[in-house]
Amino acid sequence: MKVDGKHYRTIWLKPDDERVVQIIDQRHLPHQFVIEDLTTVDQVAVAIKDMHVRGAGLIGATAGFGMYIAALSAPDTSDAAFMEALAADGEKLTATRPTAVNLEWAVKRQLAAIGAATGSAAKREVAYQTAIAIADEDADFCRRIGEHGVALIEAISTRKHGAPVHILTHCNAGWLAFVDYGTATAPIYAAHDRGIPVHVWVDETRPRNQGARLTAWELSHHGVPHDVIADNVGGHLMQRGMVDLMITGTDRTTYTGDVANKIGTYLKALAAKDNGVPFYVALPSSTFDWETRDGLQIPIEERDATEVTHIEGFHEGAIVSVRLTPTDSPARNYAFDVTPRRLVTGLITERGICEANEESVLALYPEHRPA
Ligand code: MRU
Repeated sequence: MKVDGKHYRTIWLKPDDERVVQIIDQRHLPHQFVIEDLTTVDQVAVAIKDMHVRGAGLIGATAGFGMYIAALSAPDTSDAAFMEALAADGEKLTATRPTAVNLEWAVKRQLAAIGAATGSAAKREVAYQTAIAIADEDADFCRRIGEHGVALIEAISTRKHGAPVHILTHCNAGWLAFVDYGTATAPIYAAHDRGIPVHVWVDETRPRNQGARLTAWELSHHGVPHDVIADNVGGHLMQRGMVDLMITGTDRTTYTGDVANKIGTYLKALAAKDNGVPFYVALPSSTFDWETRDGLQIPIEERDATEVTHIEGFHEGAIVSVRLTPTDSPARNYAFDVTPRRLVTGLITERGICEANEESVLALYPEHRPA
């Protein structure tokens, strides 16, 4: 997508030194556009854990590049020593954030690909190619999600005789959460680019405010009409017919259709059900968990309580953090919740739209049917 007229992905190799991975450090957005260089696995792990990069697809792509960086410094002594070092680095990366399944998926994909090559030079080449493939595939799948999802918006627009389609989204499942396009935003960008009038209600998404900070920034840069709303407003808007459609992303969705996404998604899905608002979830196949049947088994990350007790903003040229809560009040910071499949109208994937149930998901992805 474009930033001030220039096309960016969220992660890439430095053009004049491909040993360096470059990312947009999202902690500074929307106030400052900062590019960070990553050259060690430890730096990659910190970038994921401390959310310089975030969002399921981008976490996966960063892990893919992280394994490429690991391969650059793995020992040349033997293939076994090389793979042992890589496995240790893979574990380090996988431990950074537990909920987004793309992380483990990307590490395992790299380990399998690199493990199949012989000799350190060939292994490094495979690590490079696989990192690029993971990133390219993520962008391509998101683009295709947009192509499938835009039909939903188009149908509502026709029903409304061209009046703006109001879409509510939670957190940031935009291009910043992936390599390009995003998932929840891809149909929105596609509709906007086709001249279909859309308007987006952007949940602020406490505690880290990915909606207010990131989704709003993205939509502004793309010229998509939107309003940022406090997290508790959605139900009110739905009761008054001011939301036509909800689209969110997901950090992990079971093959049975249960959806883990940013904390607060479940409450929005309940409100959507109560008000007859279609609730869609957009995801690439890398975000499916093909092993877990019950969404309540998905590990839920609990992050530092300071994200709840404090709030960040931009003041006099710098990002500052101020305290909101009494100093002696403890806080808890659950980062994700699970929306049960019965509340989900459908899943928008790179292969098309399906219902949120095992039958429908496996019909789109027959290669995951148990043998
Ligand atoms: O904690 P984050 O910012 O990495 O959470 C990810 C999210 O932004 C959302 O949960 C998103 O809707 C799914 S990831 C595309």
